[in-house]
Amino acid sequence: MLKIVFATNNLNKLNEIQALMPDSIQVLSLKDINFDDDIEETESTIEGNAVLKAQYIKKHYGYDVFADDSGLEVVTLDNQPGVFSARYAGNHRSDTDNIALLLKNMQGQTNRKARFKTVIALCIGTEVHTFIGIAEGEITQIPKGTNGFGYDPIFKPEGYDQTFAELSASEKNGISHRGKAVKQLVEFLSFGNKKS
Ligand code: IMP
Repeated sequence: MLKIVFATNNLNKLNEIQALMPDSIQVLSLKDINFDDDIEETESTIEGNAVLKAQYIKKHYGYDVFADDSGLEVVTLDNQPGVFSARYAGNHRSDTDNIALLLKNMQGQTNRKARFKTVIALCIGTEVHTFIGIAEGEITQIPKGTNGFGYDPIFKPEGYDQTFAELSASEKNGISHRGKAVKQLVEFLSFGNKKS
């Protein structure tokens, strides 16, 4: 059985991915390999941070590993908050604070186009692969809905009248940036894995 580490401390993400993997692949958590630190995200792009986290574990532990990083890019704000999405309103601030700041910075803006982006970086053997998932949409005028997390209440995906926070988890996963990136990773590991 192929064992692969998912470089995250988020158990929800871990369980979600394990459920999607073929039976021949066992996903290990950072806890399973006795790593209980945080890997500092020092890169300036979402892709850079995903690669940094995966390479850190590969280098120090030798396991095949993947890591993810996500963010919200707002077109009229020069693609901010992007890599700073989690700490837009400052370190250790809440989702509500981040949403309030974003809506303030969007005041009077008519172009409200935005996209969520997830990059999954996979270090397998000596190779590094990246899988990118994008969900296009727009920033609403006011928050709506209570599901999900982060900026979900103010993100309306293209083709929908509801925000991510008004959709069920499975509806969101079917169209989300993360869902799309995970799908590519699973396909690569399921089929690509048979080669070499
Ligand atoms: P992470 O890399 O998945 O931890 O995402 C970084 C930050 O981007 C989160 O703390 C959220 O603020 C934001 N974000 C990422 N994905 C989503 C999402 O699906 N919905 C809402 N916010 C998200």
